[in-house]
Amino acid sequence: MRILVTGGAGFIGSHTCVELLESGYEVVVLDNLYNSSVKALERVEQITGKKVTFYEEDILNKEGMNAIFDKEKIDAVIHFAGLKAVGESCAKPLLYYHNNITGTVNLLEVMSSHNVKNIIFSSSATVYGDPKIIPVTEECAKGEITNPYGKTKSMLEEVMMDLQKSDPEWNVVLLRYFNPIGAHESGLIGEDPKGIPNNLVPFVAQVAIGKRPFVHVFGSDYATPDGTGIRDYIHVVDLAKGHVCALDKIKENCGLKIYNLGTGHGYSVLDIIHTFEQACGKEIPYKLEERRPGDIAINYSDPKKAKDELHWEAKRDLFTMMKDSWNWQSKNPEGYGK
Ligand code: NAD
Ligand code: WQD
Repeated sequence: MRILVTGGAGFIGSHTCVELLESGYEVVVLDNLYNSSVKALERVEQITGKKVTFYEEDILNKEGMNAIFDKEKIDAVIHFAGLKAVGESCAKPLLYYHNNITGTVNLLEVMSSHNVKNIIFSSSATVYGDPKIIPVTEECAKGEITNPYGKTKSMLEEVMMDLQKSDPEWNVVLLRYFNPIGAHESGLIGEDPKGIPNNLVPFVAQVAIGKRPFVHVFGSDYATPDGTGIRDYIHVVDLAKGHVCALDKIKENCGLKIYNLGTGHGYSVLDIIHTFEQACGKEIPYKLEERRPGDIAINYSDPKKAKDELHWEAKRDLFTMMKDSWNWQSKNPEGYGK
């Protein structure tokens, strides 16, 4: 089977390419390299000893995508391409709506016209807003989302649900990721944020390597055991393997399916800092600061549905996540060095 991976040069996409290749799939990547480097794909080839077919293309360019679908016989699409910075999406909402929504509608139209009706979509736990049920099950109603990025995820879920309802030949798997972190154990691929990292673990890693003086801990007065926010951090390799299991589900002609991909465990900001200290053998300075606007206190998944139906569960623990993040960061202090 040949899988088109949009956004395949990115953080989660590159790790998923490794798992796909190692499971015997042929991989075609489409990425405009806006937030990634082609070096990630060279490293994917180095890890797996297999070829990736790469197109530097944009999901906003329908003609370009048509040409790829004309040339390659694609069986299914894993759709990672999109912009993902929450703060930037508040400053530039139209950029996010255009790139994520228009780009995805373009992709779905091109897929439809080529009779490729199998898609796995990168959704996010952000669609639950401040969840009413903890741990969060897929039954939990979607909540109020406070930023345009998160709204694009929620809207795109609706777009794909409507499409699948209109034409039951479509198989749509919506995967709601919790907080992906870590890196491939080889240290060859990992997360390479541009500028100041928005997310906690890349920021902690940059403090550990000496690029930044201390971690800003956003809020220490939440109703949690140590007062800091709690999240469900999941190793990116476990997450990537979840996509291979979702492809198996698609092969059953599953119609519409929605799964949380998380570990089911919640860890606080201070848990992260202290576990990273153990993994890197250094002290990580931090300062307790004000809450970050839009943040919630606690978010972690109930991963049972994915376990029962996808036969998938996250295996890597928090220490392994931190060890692999540090391995990547220390071997690649400048990331891919764009
Ligand atoms: P990433 O930025 O590393 O990867 C996204 C890739 O998409 C990049 O390589 C980028 O160059 C590419 N891209 C963006 N716009 C494009 C366009 N118009 N045309 C072609 N390529 C384009 O991000 P990631 O962390 O790997 O996330 C992958 C997906 O998972 C995204 O859709 C993201 O919203 C979603 N997601 C991420 C997280 C997270 O915390 N990392 C959590 C939930 C969901
Ligand atoms: C985690 C915890 C912060 C940075 C975001 C998106 C979400 C999803 C994953 C894509 C929180 C605290 C953070 C820092 C800190 N992405 N923190 N200092 O906010 O759970 O989720 O990424 O879909 O949509 O919103 O992840 O890593 O930013 O924060 O104290 O420098 O770390 O307050 O408690 P978040 P995060």
